Amino acid sequence: MNPVIDVLASSDVDCLERLWKQLLVHHSRAAGHLTSLGAVRPPEDSWRLRRGQYLEWLQEPLTAVLVARDGDRLLGYAVVRVVDAPGSWKWGDQVGVLETLVVDDEARGAGVGQVLLGTARERLAELGIQVMKISVIAGNEGAVRFYQREGAVDFVKTLVMPVSE
Ligand SMILES: CC(C)(COP(=O)(O)OP(=O)(O)OC[C@H]1O[C@@H](n2cnc3c(N)ncnc32)[C@H](O)[C@@H]1OP(=O)(O)O)[C@@H](O)C(=O)NCCC(=O)NCCS
Repeated sequence: MNPVIDVLASSDVDCLERLWKQLLVHHSRAAGHLTSLGAVRPPEDSWRLRRGQYLEWLQEPLTAVLVARDGDRLLGYAVVRVVDAPGSWKWGDQVGVLETLVVDDEARGAGVGQVLLGTARERLAELGIQVMKISVIAGNEGAVRFYQREGAVDFVKTLVMPVSE
């Protein structure tokens, strides 16, 4: 597949809703063990919150929503930001963060994710950024393989626990 990659205007953020909801389903299947801590939010609620976050992040000058299209069809999108990087490693003053990467269920496995990831990395490299952080929900092993194949390595392992019995 040969997708066209564009930068999405913040006024068009609502076109991401369908794929965000697909990602929510994917995450809830991959990380079923997390429901012992609380139910997954209803899709409408989850999108409302994520939409708000996207609009907030888009106020930052270096945030970009990259969309992959085949004609009018949205095949996938990536949201990438730049944040300060205090920490123990010399990774520069700022690092990139891949906040979302999702490819339409029906377009997966055809290289769209690779093109979106590559575009996000190129964009950061042009800004002089050296490293991009990615968080993957526990159980999403396909995505881990995908990122590792592109050169990602293990960084932080985040755990979550209830605070009362
Ligand atoms: C992970 C993802 C973005 C990769 O995009 P893609 O366009 O399918 O990626 P590519 O075609 O470039 O690479 C395919 C690889 O992705 C991985 N993959 C993960 N989930 C997959 C799926 N449902 N279907 C196909 N490949 C999948 C596989 O490792 C596959 O490698 P393989 O061809 O050796 O099996 C995409 O599969 C996706 O949206 N998955 C669901 C959402 C998700 O997990 N996003 C990442 C959140 S951190």
